[in-house]
Amino acid sequence: MNAPLPVVRDVPSLRNEIAAWRKAGLRVGLVPTMGALHEGHLSLVRTAKEKADRVVTTLFVNPRQFAPHEDFERYPRDEAGDSAMLASAGCDLLYAPDRAVMYPEGFATNVIVTDVSTPLEGEFRPHFFGGVATVVSKLLLQSLPDAAFFGEKDYQQLQVIKRMTRDLDIPVAIEGCATVRESDGLAMSSRNAYLNADERKIAARLNLIMHDAIKAARAGAAIASAEAQASRHITAAGFTSVDYIAIRDAETLAPITDLSRPARILAAAWLGKTRLIDNMAV
Ligand code: PAF
Repeated sequence: MNAPLPVVRDVPSLRNEIAAWRKAGLRVGLVPTMGALHEGHLSLVRTAKEKADRVVTTLFVNPRQFAPHEDFERYPRDEAGDSAMLASAGCDLLYAPDRAVMYPEGFATNVIVTDVSTPLEGEFRPHFFGGVATVVSKLLLQSLPDAAFFGEKDYQQLQVIKRMTRDLDIPVAIEGCATVRESDGLAMSSRNAYLNADERKIAARLNLIMHDAIKAARAGAAIASAEAQASRHITAAGFTSVDYIAIRDAETLAPITDLSRPARILAAAWLGKTRLIDNMAV
């Protein structure tokens, strides 16, 4: 059994711990999460531990990135379980602030990243990236790690965070880490826990359909027709609806008409009340 993971819940305590590490010449890595941890999160912690001497994981279910009709209330929460998993993955410190620490009375700042935030998730969840950029800028500035680690599973989020960090001169390296998948290819996500057995089977079709669309585009199909065919296949597989499936410029996420630059396929689709997202390099 691992020793219980130390936890801090306010900014001065977080900074004290990190200052002591810095004084000892240690590199610090940060893994921001909303908890409900799975193997994908743990792989971020392990990567952070390879690249830094000490790893801090943050646990905060950020209300500002959920719209009123979304799943903030039912989002899975299990700090004790998360903490045990983090200890076994080599995490050194859990930072679990409450809402009053992150957004004290009178909090009035919103960090908005334009351009890369606008399409795809930005269109279907217009509140989302403002909430993410605000909380992530706070977490980075509260802890000032050497590097922060984010999953490519939330690919557009990763691009938004990279842009924000660069634009605001936040002195932290942003590292993207490969998506971790179940044995049938379904991207790991805390929201997979919402799926019933039938939905779980259908969910695994999404990554296969995306692979087929990549093959079609690489074989010379027009981007728009590869996207349209993939969208039809997602519906035919049993998904309730498709928000988007799009092949885009890998950095700006702008629409493209050919594969002359690095491209990414990104999708979001609903299974009942659960929204799944996935993406892959083309
Ligand atoms: O990807 C997530 O879990 C969240 O969006 C993040 C980056 C922790 C911000 O709340």
